[in-house]
Amino acid sequence: MDKKVIYSAVQPSGNLTIGNYLGAIRNWVRMQDEYDCFYAVANMHAITVKQDPAELRRRTLELVALYLACGLDPEKCALYVQSNVPQHAELCWVLNTIAYVGELSRMTQFKDKSQKHAENINMGLMDYPVLMAADILLYQAQYVPVGADQKQHVEIARDLAIRFNNRFGDTFTVPEPLILKGGAKICSLQEPTKKMSKSDENPNASIYLTDDRDTVIRKFKRAVTDSDNVVKASEDKPGITNLLNIYCAFKGCSLEEAEGEFAGMGYGDFKLAVGESVADVITPVQAEQKRLLADKTYLGEVLKSGADRAYKAARRTLSKVYRKVGFYEGN
Ligand code: TRP
Repeated sequence: MDKKVIYSAVQPSGNLTIGNYLGAIRNWVRMQDEYDCFYAVANMHAITVKQDPAELRRRTLELVALYLACGLDPEKCALYVQSNVPQHAELCWVLNTIAYVGELSRMTQFKDKSQKHAENINMGLMDYPVLMAADILLYQAQYVPVGADQKQHVEIARDLAIRFNNRFGDTFTVPEPLILKGGAKICSLQEPTKKMSKSDENPNASIYLTDDRDTVIRKFKRAVTDSDNVVKASEDKPGITNLLNIYCAFKGCSLEEAEGEFAGMGYGDFKLAVGESVADVITPVQAEQKRLLADKTYLGEVLKSGADRAYKAARRTLSKVYRKVGFYEGN
């Protein structure tokens, strides 16, 4: 009778790209009817790299407004800010005692970020996957929709759940990653063999959800392709293949349909059509986001009720955990 639980979160750092939209947000919206969904803004994860405090706060609200603008319904899912639910940090501490330094220091993202932020290899950066495991396990989530880059983190959450259950008795649902297609396939417009990333230094490489129509069209015009002027997907044409994938994702059509549509058309017109397909979807979302951001009272209410719901679920799991590990529960 109970719906299965979905948990996911996004960090309020960097500008979200259309890859994030296709891979995460759009799928979250699709899942809200079928599942019991908890969606968080992972601001505690965000501070594992240096953040400007004012910007972090602003981005948090922007992200919430964006989720809502994309169609997340606060009546259906719990939308909240991670730091507003104290159990995340509390469960993280307990899980820290069963997570090994060795396994954490081997995580791909930890190694990448240590290289990138060599001046700030802090404990939080290494502990990032344990906090993420706490996020997921607190809600007894069955499925965790994430991009392929987060798969390893969900696997560690699984390992920790199993390890805890074995040591202390059945406590946590063992979560499974739901690796979303679409988002994973969206590549850089400048180096189409690389994933489109919100932290790419070249702004022409990514389409941000904040880009206006003209910027979107201009970036697609400059997208790297090849010189044979045939709009067909193939392995030796990563640029055109990527543009076709983007077009299909935004239009909801198949590759064959898109190739048929563009048969005999030059790259210039094709790129323009891809740009328009994207702008047609993201421009109305931007307008709605702007409208919501002007209504801070409403956003506050959404986050308050989301945090209340999350808190109730999280408290249930945490008290079970505290009992299992033998914490004294006086007062
Ligand atoms: N680490 C994720 C990312 O950067 C965000 C995140 C935090 C998350 N906690 C999570 C995703 C729990 C899924 C489940 O994309």
